[in-house]
Amino acid sequence: MTELEGLSQGDLFAPPDPILTCTTLDELHGLIRDCVKCDELAEYRTQAVPGVGPANARVFFIGEAPGRWEDEQGEPFVGDAGAYLTELLEKIGLNRSEVFISNILKCRPPDNRNPKTQEMDACAPYLERQIELIGPALVVLLGRVALERFFPKEKITEAATKPRRKAIGGRQITFLPLLHPAFGIRRQDLKPEIEQQFWKIRELLDQL
Ligand code: URA
Repeated sequence: MTELEGLSQGDLFAPPDPILTCTTLDELHGLIRDCVKCDELAEYRTQAVPGVGPANARVFFIGEAPGRWEDEQGEPFVGDAGAYLTELLEKIGLNRSEVFISNILKCRPPDNRNPKTQEMDACAPYLERQIELIGPALVVLLGRVALERFFPKEKITEAATKPRRKAIGGRQITFLPLLHPAFGIRRQDLKPEIEQQFWKIRELLDQL
C-alpha cells in the first residue's frame, strides 16, 4: 500500500494545523487566547495566559499552571511565587525581561486544582510550538508537574539540578529540572536549597 492509499479523504483534505503552521509567537498566542479545547477551563478562566518574554530568549521557564493573579493579569508567575522567581533570577544575574516564562497549562484550573492529563495533552502542542519558535538554549522545568510532563516517572527531588537532553521539533534541547519556587514560599527553610539550585542555570548558560 502506498502512503497515499493509507490516508482517508478526511486526511487528504484536512486543513493544516494552525498551531504547526504559525510562524510567530504573536500568532501562536492569539490561538492560545481563543482556545476552547477544554470546556471547563475555557468557561472558568478570566483569560488564557500564553507566556511572556522575548522571542529569542536563551532560557525558557515552565511552571505548572496560572493561579488567581496570573488569570487576572494574563501573565505567568505574577503572584508570590512569581515575585520569588524574579528574585531568584536576579540573584544569578538574569533579568526577568530577558527570559521566557510559561506553564504546562495556559488556563487556570478551577480552585487551583491539579491539571488533568487530558488538559495537559490538549495544551501540549502550544508549549511545544513555543519551544520550537523560541529555540532556547535551556528549558528549566519548575516542579513536579513540568518535570513529569517531559520526563514521566522521574521524581523532582531526585532529578532537580540534573540536566538532560530531549528532542523538540527535531532539535535537541537541554532541560533542567528544579524545585518549584512556590516550595520556598510554603517552606521558608527550603529557600537556601532552592537558591543553590538556581545557580545551576548560570553554570549551564555559561557552557551552552
Ligand atoms: N504561577 C504560575 O504562572 N505558574 C506556577 O506554576 C505557579 C504560579
